[in-house]
Amino acid sequence: MAESKETPLMEKIVSLCKRRGFIFQSSEIYGGINGFWDYGPLGAELKRNVKELWWRSMTQQREDVVGLEASIIMHPKIWEASGHTSTFSDPMVDCLLTKKRFRADQVEPQSGNAYHFLGAINKDDFLHLLLDSSEHIDVRDEGATSFHLQLKTGATGKELTARLENLRRASKLSFCPDPFSVLATVGKPIESALKVARQFYEQRGLKDPTMILVGKEKVENSQRFNPENGALLTEPRQFNLMFKTYVGPVESEENVAYLRPETAQAIFAQFKTVLEVSRQKIPFGICQIGKAFRNEINPRNFTFRSREFEQMELEFFIKPDEAVEAISGRVANAADIWKENIEHRTSNAEHPTSGSQPSTLNPQPQPDWGWEARHKYWVQERIRWYESIGLPRASLEEYWQKKDELAHYARATVDILYKFPFGAQELEGIAARGDFDLSQHQRFSGKPMGVFDDELKAAWARLDETKKKELGQRYHDARLKYLAQMGVAAEESAKQAREDADGLARGNYIPHVIEPSAGVDRLILALICHAYSEDQAPDEKGHLETRVVMRFHPCIAPIKVAVFPLLKNKPDLVNKAKEVRDLLRPHLTVFYDEAGAIGRRYRRQDEAGTPFGVTIDFETLGEKGPELKDTVTLRDRDSMKQERVKIGELVPLLLEKVR
Ligand code: GAP
Repeated sequence: MAESKETPLMEKIVSLCKRRGFIFQSSEIYGGINGFWDYGPLGAELKRNVKELWWRSMTQQREDVVGLEASIIMHPKIWEASGHTSTFSDPMVDCLLTKKRFRADQVEPQSGNAYHFLGAINKDDFLHLLLDSSEHIDVRDEGATSFHLQLKTGATGKELTARLENLRRASKLSFCPDPFSVLATVGKPIESALKVARQFYEQRGLKDPTMILVGKEKVENSQRFNPENGALLTEPRQFNLMFKTYVGPVESEENVAYLRPETAQAIFAQFKTVLEVSRQKIPFGICQIGKAFRNEINPRNFTFRSREFEQMELEFFIKPDEAVEAISGRVANAADIWKENIEHRTSNAEHPTSGSQPSTLNPQPQPDWGWEARHKYWVQERIRWYESIGLPRASLEEYWQKKDELAHYARATVDILYKFPFGAQELEGIAARGDFDLSQHQRFSGKPMGVFDDELKAAWARLDETKKKELGQRYHDARLKYLAQMGVAAEESAKQAREDADGLARGNYIPHVIEPSAGVDRLILALICHAYSEDQAPDEKGHLETRVVMRFHPCIAPIKVAVFPLLKNKPDLVNKAKEVRDLLRPHLTVFYDEAGAIGRRYRRQDEAGTPFGVTIDFETLGEKGPELKDTVTLRDRDSMKQERVKIGELVPLLLEKVR
């Protein structure tokens, strides 16, 4: 999906992120490094909150998911097994003039006239050329800057090049024989193309180049030219996105290792160990949060496409459908399971929720669920989670990949998109990956990745012969298909698939997997974009001014509550405010601020997204009567309403509000 350019809203968001310390460029004092970002004090808190909420909902609040924290650098064979060494690449093109690099499929298509140049000579030399090759060329002078030579009709570029080469060898002229093309987009004159071509030949050593034009061509929706200057791009080359390094002091081929491009593979590689130590049974999942690295050709849209980022991934291992059917007598129809769910959502759509209420019900997984139902379940679970942290359903889209977009092993993939200011883009992919991953690691490591399922063994014994044959055949065919796709020799594939089918009858199989894979940094960006809002609020003198408010859901807000003494120069107010701060601090992230007018202090916290502000005033000290003593004002960021609350009730009240 092509990503569009940055919008004015994005510019405001990027600027706020820098100004308030959410996110800024890595290594900024050295000019930054493209595709790498640092999270400042507010950003770091926001990120921690999001990761913690994900971790809690994915594993701590579930019976059937356990966690893992694996190393970033792993055995290089892992990436051979996963396919990353051979296929984790993007087509890359370079601008022949500026050397700027693009992903070939992301170059903006353009239309116009393409001008093709055979090469160029120095302007002073062109008389030599005319004397020698006047039957080949015309002099074209279309204004001071557009002087160029043009191939005569009927003359061939090849012949002219040979002549030019001869003249160059005889030291009669300086000739640069590099062909080049420039696109002048619709409405642009030839001069614009000549200007770019001139720069190209100057870079190649000609002091005052005169270009030799050999053709003009009308092009439509071409991705062959740099959209920024019209210069020709190189032919696409495949570029592997993995960052390479060496383990140990010797930089040799056998010591090559890679920074992981995804966290998922460690989960597959450690699947058997985790299964044993956690005493889980299929179906169950292993989740992980961690850094991933991809040498993206064109990092863009702020942190959206970075070279270093974090992922939150779950690999949920399930029984193959043949095993489910043998045990439960059927595989439940996924569409039927969610029928009721869809009806619920339709009625909810008329009354959209504020964001923290999931818009859908999700049924509890059942033993007769096959991969399709499990996949749908995770799609719904993940959407519900996004809603719970403040991204309403209407800000998200579900994109079901079409058959021809799916990876060869995937049975279905759903992308959850967020409607960013630069377009609806992927936050998370939820893929049904069959048994591809564990099968690959079994083949490459030589270690068995299958499991023994006593329930299946017992159920199989009870099946009639026709059913055994049918299920066995289906499993056999699926295994054979995988092995053949992986290029295993026909005889070996047939033998292996037969053994696998026999194994199923004894209760053995390689688990299938459903993979919800989310990017932390993309999610943080989505949450920041969603939170950003501007409204009107009165200043100290009651005049309305524009207020920037980050309307984070309180559960993710970097600071939960700010504490303010009304006046800085009243020790009693300051002391009381510090007391309140210390009371809250063990339970919540608190920010204490006594500098400046109270209105300014509110604005600063609005920009930081702090949902609550507690102000200690003269009423708190009992100066306005005993009934208000030890009460404070509690200000709500979004409504700006204030209520009076007893200090003793603050902790439970705030804890309830920020859940
Ligand atoms: N294990 C599957 C996997 O890695 P992916 O779609 O390549 O799938 C999953 O990545 C998620 O990781 C994406 O949905 C996105 O949120 C995040 N992600 C991928 N590449 C990224 C990048 N260059 N910068 C930031 N986030 C990225």
